[in-house]
Amino acid sequence: MSPSHSVAELRIDNARLLQRIADLGDIGAVHGPNGEHGCARLALTDEDRLGRDLVVSWMRDLGLIVAIDAIGNVVATHPGADPAAAPVMMGSHIDTVRTGGRFDGNLGVLGGLEVIETLQRHGVRTRRPIQVAFFTDEEGARFAPDMLGSLVYVGGMSVQEALDARAADDNARLGDELNRIGYAGPTPCPTADIPHAFVELHIEQGPVLEEQGITIGVVTGVQGISWTELVITGRSAHAGTTPMRLRKDPLVPAAAIAVEARRLAAEMGGSQVATIGRFDVFPDLVNVIAQSVTIALDVRNTDDTLLRNAEAHMMEFATAAAHVEGCTLQTRTLSRFEPVAFADSMIDSVERIARSQGHSTLRLPSGAGHDAQMLARVCPTSMIFVPSVDGLSHNIAEFTEAADIAAGANVLLHMVLELAEPI
Ligand code: GLV
Ligand code: MN
Ligand code: MN
Repeated sequence: MSPSHSVAELRIDNARLLQRIADLGDIGAVHGPNGEHGCARLALTDEDRLGRDLVVSWMRDLGLIVAIDAIGNVVATHPGADPAAAPVMMGSHIDTVRTGGRFDGNLGVLGGLEVIETLQRHGVRTRRPIQVAFFTDEEGARFAPDMLGSLVYVGGMSVQEALDARAADDNARLGDELNRIGYAGPTPCPTADIPHAFVELHIEQGPVLEEQGITIGVVTGVQGISWTELVITGRSAHAGTTPMRLRKDPLVPAAAIAVEARRLAAEMGGSQVATIGRFDVFPDLVNVIAQSVTIALDVRNTDDTLLRNAEAHMMEFATAAAHVEGCTLQTRTLSRFEPVAFADSMIDSVERIARSQGHSTLRLPSGAGHDAQMLARVCPTSMIFVPSVDGLSHNIAEFTEAADIAAGANVLLHMVLELAEPI
């Protein structure tokens, strides 16, 4: 670093970061009628492989040591002066939902890469190694649970159980898909290299920062998440000839459950949210009373007791609704994570660094699940949020302003520098 610049003045190159976001966003691009540019890179699809290949090529271009583990997590390491010191890790995910954006997850990975390139170009050395990772199947949209790769990374799920997970869309086995795309790596998982700390830069994905005119969200933790699959089975029959009194129509309880989820969340208020985002009707034909309906219920709350109450109410309601229609109900837990609180010292540091760079800050919990909530099981962890235009995410119109990306990445840079101990 030139003597005229102190480490405190170091800033990332936002044009380079934005270019990488654009290039990765071209893989699996989905365009909307009003100029929207989103992404479809569901976990372990061909598009995911192409995205992985591109990010790994960037990691290698920077001379990083790239390790791919048994569940396809990719960790790139920039060495520190003390190779025995525990690394400071950044990262997130590059898989997306089917109608996702270019920023969700990708920002945390490419922001991390940008931090490392900035340090390299300015010759800033640190005592600790610095890592940037992308974790397999964070979205959980194809293989449940969400945050699967980071969960396995920290030992919260066995590799074998994860490899045996089945895809919601085509029932493919996760382990087979991992082999198919060439990302079943040799590095053991769970990791033996527990980070000194983990920091994830992410878009907020909700409206709070934008509504309040705040640049940096200081994330205090992540709310509890519960996903349940419900299969309601009735009796398929002719829509024209079957009297109403003889019907066992699973679509009727399924629809009632969707309406009840909305009613319950409104009644509970606070942070309670409830969603039916998946609704598969079989055989899905105009003149056939359905044989079965598969729905997926997503309920979340920052308070685990309230979340348990919501789960119990919905299961009781679903059981009764299926019974009244003469249908059977089978349920399966897809995902269940308790609320997570990040370490106070890490929260304080994000806030202090953001303010020292002149940004407005707000402490807030995350409504979305993140890899950081898994890393928080093994090391001090924090997240940096930047605003989402119109609060939109999991939507091809998802967008974050360039200035907000720069602000978030510079907070990440200085958070990591401090943790990694410049020499
Ligand atoms: C993961 O993105 C989730 O919160 O659903
Ligand atoms: Mn994400
Ligand atoms: Mn997401």
